[in-house]
Amino acid sequence: MANPAQSDLSCADLFEEAENEPANRSANATFGDVLAERLSRRDLVKGILATTAVAAAVSPSALLTACSEAPLTTPQFNFTEVVAGESDRHYVAEGYSADVLIRWGDKVLVDAPEFDVNNLTAAAQAQQFGYNNDFLGFLPLAGRADHGLLVINHEYTSEELMFPGIDPSDKKSKRFAEMSPERVAVEMMAHGGSVIEVKREGDTWSVVEDSPYARRITAETEIEFTGPAAGHEKMRTSADPDGRKVRGMINNCSGAVTPWGTWLSCEENFNGYFSNKNAARKSADAASLQRYGAPAEWYAWARFHDRFDIGKEPNEIHRFGWVVEIDPLDPNSTPKKRTALGRYKHEGAGNIVNRDGRFVIYQGDDQRFEYIYRFVTKGKVDEARREGNKDLLDEGTLYVARFNPDGSGVWLPLVFGEGPLTPASGFSDQGDVLINTRFAADLVGATKMDRPEDIKANPVNGKVYCMLTNNTKRQPVATDAANPRPFNKFGHIVEITPDGGDHAAPTFRWEILVQCGDPKLAEVGATFNPATSANGWFANPDNCVVDAEGRLWVATDGNSGKKTGRADGLWGLETEGKARGTGRLFFRCPIGAEMCGPCVTPDTQTFFVAVQHPGAGEKGVVSTFKRPRTRWPDFKWDMPPRPSVVAITKKGGGKIGV
Ligand code: FEO
Ligand code: CA
Ligand code: CA
Ligand code: CA
Repeated sequence: MANPAQSDLSCADLFEEAENEPANRSANATFGDVLAERLSRRDLVKGILATTAVAAAVSPSALLTACSEAPLTTPQFNFTEVVAGESDRHYVAEGYSADVLIRWGDKVLVDAPEFDVNNLTAAAQAQQFGYNNDFLGFLPLAGRADHGLLVINHEYTSEELMFPGIDPSDKKSKRFAEMSPERVAVEMMAHGGSVIEVKREGDTWSVVEDSPYARRITAETEIEFTGPAAGHEKMRTSADPDGRKVRGMINNCSGAVTPWGTWLSCEENFNGYFSNKNAARKSADAASLQRYGAPAEWYAWARFHDRFDIGKEPNEIHRFGWVVEIDPLDPNSTPKKRTALGRYKHEGAGNIVNRDGRFVIYQGDDQRFEYIYRFVTKGKVDEARREGNKDLLDEGTLYVARFNPDGSGVWLPLVFGEGPLTPASGFSDQGDVLINTRFAADLVGATKMDRPEDIKANPVNGKVYCMLTNNTKRQPVATDAANPRPFNKFGHIVEITPDGGDHAAPTFRWEILVQCGDPKLAEVGATFNPATSANGWFANPDNCVVDAEGRLWVATDGNSGKKTGRADGLWGLETEGKARGTGRLFFRCPIGAEMCGPCVTPDTQTFFVAVQHPGAGEKGVVSTFKRPRTRWPDFKWDMPPRPSVVAITKKGGGKIGV
């Protein structure tokens, strides 16, 4: 990682770098024939390299699948593309409206004060919309697609755009000196999540002002631990000697909603909030801290809150890095950190009800060389009684994926007492396996991936799409079949097909759906369908959503004018038939922003998207409160950019992109 203290990176870049920084030093193998490894099976089918050496590595059934002229199960995208590029504002495809629904600082709770960017207070922020909206989930009320709850993650804060006088290119000590206890308290209230009630009238969505569901969750909200690691001795702190309660959720990136109407909010880069590298080095927990890249010291929180100082409260860090389940229908409910799902840098929690009724959650650990996970519940989803699913996520099996070079794959269980997960390897019980999920995954031989982000199952065709955003640290000798590009700058998407259509099956087939980047540059090695226009290709797939029609939409994080000649945005990506691998640009972010939270209503008539860190700087470009790169979305001379949710509808109504 570039030393943040001496770099000119913005906060967003720091996260990018940090998410990139490999912490996995395990000796897990990379494998296979170099040729076969570097080409997807689609390349073979397309005749790019039909050598017998490679063909031998590909099963005939996989070749058939890729060649198939079978009737499409999903309709194709139909809209006029946005022109790719970069500017201070957002764009949506012709014939659609894209209106700002809610911005950082807008009211969430009815008594919230008006936003005053020059007088931010923790008390006001605790009632207002938080910063850096990421995941968005829509929960219909009374089964309606035009009226429901929107649940939103507030992943992190960008101090240099929230407060005057902070230059991200300053040394960390100087930046931290600008962070008063009051500013840190504002930041802590700007983290977490929001629940808002939203309604559509005509083409316009608005927030219901006095909703009984309105809620803010922050870095101070009381949250309960459930599952095997609850109460574990490694979870106990001076404030919580029982190890069963924690204040707050932090760095909640992507997430999901469940069929029973709860919100799964995923803690990602929790390591950045902890400080005291000296103490960490001397700690009995040093190996685990190193494995999770902690403490990364991105924030000044430990200056005013002992629990974020590893030397003072060594176990507090074990209490972050979990999936939080929240009931948005009950604003007084206590959120639950579901420890059975493991502890790591969770991106999202894409899920599906398996045909046997069990609930399956696919998850990525977003860091270079980390893994793809799957959780399968022991019990079945209770479709009749919501209450019947209250503790469903507390019992089940967590697995990690191994991708074989022949296109097969295995889900390896992470169960205490099975295989190498025994006291001889340092594990004391299942709680310990879950607190140190990464160690357990190392030991069973999982495949190191190129930063796994969102993973979503397609209920229409049974496939699972894994976004792999990039990995510029992968050396040529370390490439493998599922991560075939060295110095992978632009990312790729892997498609998983569960064996026998069973999402709980121990094995699967896989192939690369697309290698991203500019297809015109041969050295990039992108594999978009040749039908893709100059606007339709993208780099750095991050979040994604499958709409009710079974179509895949991909949101990106990492494009820029400098890097790819385009801002981040939302692309439709064909997954079936002759058009498979064709991208189409639907929505384009303002400069500096990444695209998060794509969320589509059940009637496919509205897209909610989260514009995160608009105006953020990048390498060599400093952007600050006083001199931001854009003042989106208000464009007022004294207002910095504000992360916001945008609602997209078709003018005059109708399904999107059909
Ligand atoms: Fe918060 Fe993996 O992006
Ligand atoms: Ca993000
Ligand atoms: Ca993300
Ligand atoms: Ca990302």
